Amino acid sequence: MEYVIEMNNITKVFPGIKANDNITLRVQKGEIHALLGENGAGKSTLMNILFGLYQPEEGEIKIQGKPVKITSPNVANELGIGMVHQHFMLVHNFTVTENIILGNEPKKGGKINIEDAAAEIKKLSEQYGLAVDPHAKIEDISVGMQQRVEILKTLYRGAEILIFDEPTAVLTPQEIHELIGILKRLVQEGKSIVLITHKLKEIMEVCDRCTIIRKGKGIGTVDIATTNEQQLAELMVGREVSFKTEKSDAQPQQNVLQISNLIVNDSRNLPAVKGLDLTVRAGEIVGIAGVDGNGQSELIEAITGLRKVESGSITLNDKDVTNWPTRRITEEGVGHIPEDRHKHGLVLDFSIGDNMVLQTYHKPPISSKGILNFGKVYEKAKALIQQFDVRTPSEHTPARALSGGNQQKAIIAREVDRDPDLLIAAQPTRGLDVGAIEFIHRKLVEQRDKGKAVLLLSLELDEIINVSDRIAVIYEGQIVGIVNAKETNEQELGLLMAGGTQGEKVNTNA
Ligand SMILES: Nc1ncnc2c1ncn2[C@@H]1O[C@H](COP(=O)(O)OP(=O)(O)O)[C@@H](O)[C@H]1O
Ligand SMILES: [Mg+2]
Repeated sequence: MEYVIEMNNITKVFPGIKANDNITLRVQKGEIHALLGENGAGKSTLMNILFGLYQPEEGEIKIQGKPVKITSPNVANELGIGMVHQHFMLVHNFTVTENIILGNEPKKGGKINIEDAAAEIKKLSEQYGLAVDPHAKIEDISVGMQQRVEILKTLYRGAEILIFDEPTAVLTPQEIHELIGILKRLVQEGKSIVLITHKLKEIMEVCDRCTIIRKGKGIGTVDIATTNEQQLAELMVGREVSFKTEKSDAQPQQNVLQISNLIVNDSRNLPAVKGLDLTVRAGEIVGIAGVDGNGQSELIEAITGLRKVESGSITLNDKDVTNWPTRRITEEGVGHIPEDRHKHGLVLDFSIGDNMVLQTYHKPPISSKGILNFGKVYEKAKALIQQFDVRTPSEHTPARALSGGNQQKAIIAREVDRDPDLLIAAQPTRGLDVGAIEFIHRKLVEQRDKGKAVLLLSLELDEIINVSDRIAVIYEGQIVGIVNAKETNEQELGLLMAGGTQGEKVNTNA
């Protein structure tokens, strides 16, 4: 068998960690080959080696059967390898064409000919069904479009092998659907693709084969036609994975959070939450389902004191906390796993240990008489790291160096450890792999079973249905229906989320 890519026995060491330990990856011409592994397994490292960004300590690479040394991305380009990175590398005030030819300008008599380049880009865009306007400015186009510009950039440089590093992580469901069409089109036109993703559904839908890596080691390659999501998940995490969160029926008690007739404006000062009512009781998980942008973020910001309430009220354990400062709300018993873990969850340059005491450092036992006890900080951090399975070399490692899943576990550890009466979890598993997702879901249910009120916000309907006891559907800033999670399905929720009215079987007090 002739392979377009052969990476044989690749080893790559970073200070303190073997990111790739004797991994072999072989890609056939015209296939979509998935690279699957938990956060931190070594996927990006392996692909950065293929793209010439890192040099391996050991192993050999063959492209189209020929041994090569890929010493830089330029060499990779010359070998027909292109990469679409997780974070795009585009100049925002340049046009699509200017971005694509940047560093690769076609010259006519020493002059750059933009029009020729634009025509070429238009042709490529049509050939691969990308629908990109060569003259549009990057700042005016959507994230999905920007990703297509990155794809065009590789095609313009003559890529035959395209590497996609978690391309769906930044896309909406509709954009994901379109990207999958584009990937299929690319292989139809003879390209070969390596696709990094956590999403088992996407792999099952679009890939031919899948290579699994676990903690830096190659586990093997399977044919998608002969496998299923369950098996892939188990190969990835090395143990049985449960997709269904085990939980008994909720035993709801007294009201913890009560919101009535709440009105909150968005950043442009237009109403985003428009007279919303919601109750969350001790011992239950209430999920909020809704299409992105229907007031979810503003609602959470209002509850946590990050955004001003225009009118209406928020009470916590019968105390009116409307427009209290965040610190006071936190101390009144609210834990918050924020949507944007980098902006609101962690101080990336602080150690993971310091991050775990962000809200309690000024109080005993961490501080006494105003003096911070570093011994106590790290003792506490160590215990939490153990208890929440945060994979980090030590408690002194900067938060920035941890993978997304482990950063998230650290935030959850901190928030749960404060023992709040109300735990708000916003997109708690976004971008995480199935092992980490399962862990986090179990922690949320555990909190519920301890009698905490849990408010879960997620754009993933699977997650909402699986974890919640009751589901409140938000549409245009209002709760338009409340359903019992055990008695609903994606269709019913989808209808409510689109502004449809509640069916007869739906009971608002479910
Ligand atoms: N430039 C780097 N320096 C030091 N460690 C790194 C570097 N890049 C990645 N790592 C570490 O190598 C491991 C694999 O990372 P990565 O390849 O990014 O994983 P994945 O893409 O599968 O999530 C992780 O433990 C990560 O912290
Ligand atoms: Mg990665």
